[in-house]
Amino acid sequence: MYIFANFKAYLDFAETNILVSQLLQSTVADNDDDTVVLFPSLLAFSEVEKACRGTALSVGVQHVGDGASPARTGDISPAQAMDAGATYALIGHSERRHMFGESDAMIAAQCTAAAQAGVIPVLCIGETADELAQGKTKARLSEQLGAVTALPSDAQYIIAYEPVWAIQGSGSGKVCEPEVVADVHAYIRDILATYTDMYVPILFGGSVKAENVVSYTSLPNVDGVLVGSASTKLETFEALVTAIHT
Ligand code: PGA
Repeated sequence: MYIFANFKAYLDFAETNILVSQLLQSTVADNDDDTVVLFPSLLAFSEVEKACRGTALSVGVQHVGDGASPARTGDISPAQAMDAGATYALIGHSERRHMFGESDAMIAAQCTAAAQAGVIPVLCIGETADELAQGKTKARLSEQLGAVTALPSDAQYIIAYEPVWAIQGSGSGKVCEPEVVADVHAYIRDILATYTDMYVPILFGGSVKAENVVSYTSLPNVDGVLVGSASTKLETFEALVTAIHT
C-alpha cells in the first residue's frame, strides 16, 4: 500500500523533526509492505529529507510550480524539488485549487513539469460538495484527470481521489462511504486505461484514520491512502499503518 502523509501546515519545525524521528523508530519505518512518503512543510523539508535518507521513508513536496520562470516569489520549481531530494510532489490538492486559485490548466502544467524534472506527480482530484449535490462528480473528475494527458508517455504518476468535502479542516470532514470510493475508483481506473498501459496507483484521501482505513484499503482499485491530520501525530499515524495489516 502507498501511505502518504500530508503534514500541510499543521506542524512547526521542531514538531516536524520530533515526529519524523519518532516515526523512524516506529513500526511505520520498520515496514517492508508499504511505500510510506512524508510531505512536510517546505521549511522543514531538507531536515526531513536528511533524516529519511537511507531509511524506508521517502519524501515529497506538498506543492510545486510549473518552473516556467524563476521570477515567481514564494514558488518552487520542479528542478528545485528534485535537487532537494523530493521523490514525489502533491499537485492539485483541493486546498491549492480552492484557496490558492489553481486552475486545471495550471495543475496540468505543474504535472508535466514535475514529470520532466524526474519528480513523480501525485495528481489530486475530487469534487466539491456542490458538484456532488448536482450529480457532477464523475464529470468533474474526468476534467481534472485531463491533466495527465500531456504527460510524457513513459512518465510514472499517481492519482489521489479526495472528495473536497471529506477533508478535515478545509472540508466538512464527513466520511466518504466505501461504496462510493469503490465506484469512483473503478471509474478513474477505466479512464486511465484509455490513457496509458502502465499501472497507475490510485489513492484515497479525506478523513482517513485508523478506525476507517481498512474500509478503504480493502477495496479493489484502492492502492493506498493520502492522510492529512491523522498523519501529524505518532499515535494516530502508527495506529493507521498498523490497522492496514491487522
Ligand atoms: P485529512 O486530509 O486526512 O486531514 O482529511 C487529507 C488531505 O487533505 O490530503
